[in-house]
Amino acid sequence: MKNTVVVGAQWGDEGKAKITDLLAGEADIIIRYQGGCNAGHTVVVDGETYKFHLIPSGILYDGKTCVIGAGTVINPVVLEEELEDLKKRGVSTKNLKICQLAHITMPYHIDLDGADELLLGNNKIGTTKRGIGPTYTDKMARLGFRIEDLYDEELLLSKIERALPIKNAQLEKIYGLKPYSKEQILEFCHYYRDYLKPYVDMDLLPFLEKSRKAGKKILFEGAQGVMLDIDFGTYPYVTSSNPIGGGAVTGTALGINSVDEVIGVFKAYITRVGEGPFMTELLDDEGEKIQSIGKEFGVTTGRKRRCGWFDLPIAKYSAQVSGLTGIALTKLDVFDSFDKIKLCVAYKDKRDGHIYDNYPTNINLHKYLEPVYRVFDGWKTDISKAKSYNDLPENAKIYLKEIEKLTDVPIKIISVGPDREQTIFI
Ligand code: IMP
Repeated sequence: MKNTVVVGAQWGDEGKAKITDLLAGEADIIIRYQGGCNAGHTVVVDGETYKFHLIPSGILYDGKTCVIGAGTVINPVVLEEELEDLKKRGVSTKNLKICQLAHITMPYHIDLDGADELLLGNNKIGTTKRGIGPTYTDKMARLGFRIEDLYDEELLLSKIERALPIKNAQLEKIYGLKPYSKEQILEFCHYYRDYLKPYVDMDLLPFLEKSRKAGKKILFEGAQGVMLDIDFGTYPYVTSSNPIGGGAVTGTALGINSVDEVIGVFKAYITRVGEGPFMTELLDDEGEKIQSIGKEFGVTTGRKRRCGWFDLPIAKYSAQVSGLTGIALTKLDVFDSFDKIKLCVAYKDKRDGHIYDNYPTNINLHKYLEPVYRVFDGWKTDISKAKSYNDLPENAKIYLKEIEKLTDVPIKIISVGPDREQTIFI
């Protein structure tokens, strides 16, 4: 295996966890590079379902080093729950390492996330309310707490003294919420300082560099998706980090030259949770059908996902901004019973008929646009047991070839069901 980045190439929930889980089998180190417990990664192994929010799913293999990287934000409460659940199920967590540079989601970040959304009213983002935006906001505002701060009492105290008056002023004066005392925050920090200690490796950065030089195989695990990227997504309806391929470099301490391959994970259709524009969204029976066959519910929030046809302008854009070298296409089997399958190949301006082949980043324009579809015949066959590309029906191959041709990126993996075995490598 080459050093590979796995990127969500749509609005998240593309099935990245299954792809990372498969590739993790050949990796030595699996490192999560951005996001926090807003992510929900489901992996099915031997019929057993595991749900991850922060820990790389590679933890399910013996002997792999799993890292929660510098670009992530960690809610220690959620991490504790996740670790305890794994331990209860007999999964060893001893190979987990937490980067000392990752930021901590404090209790007030969660309060602020909920309060921001409430104040935004109809303009809300539809966040996961996990405090992600406020944690990254504080990181950028230089008011954040990093994991390493927990282990330097003098620094910790000075940071609390610096940040808390500002956070409390926001809580009380803007939102009318209860402030936090210095003691409450200290107690929280002390508890997690001790709980997380076995996983915090202050020599992680030299370890990563040594591993890279020794030719260890590294798998970079992204969360969310390109269209939720803070810079390239449907801003402001995005998350607060960089899920794009480049995030793997800024979020790990492994340089740009350590990446050989970038795999973009796409669903055979497209989904989104939360608010924001969605050109190919289906608000009819077909959307319902995709939603119910695809079991499209958010892992973190349980919300029903919005569903629509595959969107090529987004796929091309996604391939560009992440530098994709390959595509993993998931959930192709969801279309098994469909008579017709549509592919959005461009957008048309309803006002003057102008055709957009490329994704327009100004989302204010989107309300004037409509998708231009190419329609494909369905294959009306159960493909969930297909083991190779040649096992796929001709109509499925036609659909796949079109995606490959128009994105100009080779499809390298096709998933036809949730199990590890239901995967075709090309
Ligand atoms: P936040 O990341 O909780 O701030 O939410 C911002 C936007 O990203 C919302 O539209 C969420 O629904 C979306 N989002 C965050 N994490 C995920 C994910 O893992 N999958 C899909 N959407 C996500």
